[in-house]
Amino acid sequence: MEIQRIDRANREAVDAFILRRWFTLQMVVHGESIDLGSADGFCVCEGSEIIGLITYRITGSEMEILSLDSLHESRGIGTALLNEAIARAKSAGCACILLITTNDNLAALRFYQKRGFDMVRFYRNALHEARKIKPEIPLIGADGIPLRHEIELERIL
Ligand SMILES: CC(C)(COP(=O)(O)OP(=O)(O)OC[C@H]1O[C@@H](n2cnc3c(N)ncnc32)[C@H](O)[C@@H]1OP(=O)(O)O)[C@@H](O)C(=O)NCCC(=O)NCCS
Repeated sequence: MEIQRIDRANREAVDAFILRRWFTLQMVVHGESIDLGSADGFCVCEGSEIIGLITYRITGSEMEILSLDSLHESRGIGTALLNEAIARAKSAGCACILLITTNDNLAALRFYQKRGFDMVRFYRNALHEARKIKPEIPLIGADGIPLRHEIELERIL
């Protein structure tokens, strides 16, 4: 599995991957609009194609994972990308890694909790506020579950 850091050479392909997956480079978390088009991260490539991507930002001693996407599930892509981000956080001297997911994303809640992350905060009806910035956020999320709340997870390093 070839993992590359996002750089000038692959930035266009990374942005195209995000747009195919999410239809926009703008992500809204805790009421903040974040441009994934300038975020750091790593991608997994198969030939010339990107098949997985993790993006993050580092503020002070915290890394925040902004997105994690795997096109071919259960092949170890998500784990490899997460491990790469953990190694980056440690080398940058971070004390913890944070991320926000939504109440409908049971796959992500399962994935992260099995990898040392714990739920630390709950933002009730955060999606209602997020829709004021990004009205296209759907009302119904994964598995037909109403998309309403943000859940923050943390892994201490
Ligand atoms: C969450 C997500 C990133 C996981 O990615 P993934 O590539 O399926 O992750 P992995 O393959 O590393 O791990 C998934 C499972 O497959 C298993 N697996 C890994 N390699 C495997 C292989 N070669 N054969 C069979 N199973 C394998 C892992 O053990 C893991 O199971 P576990 O969680 O019970 O330990 C993916 O489901 C996804 O893109 N979801 C949509 C976007 C999203 O919700 N992102 C997270 C919000 S930030």
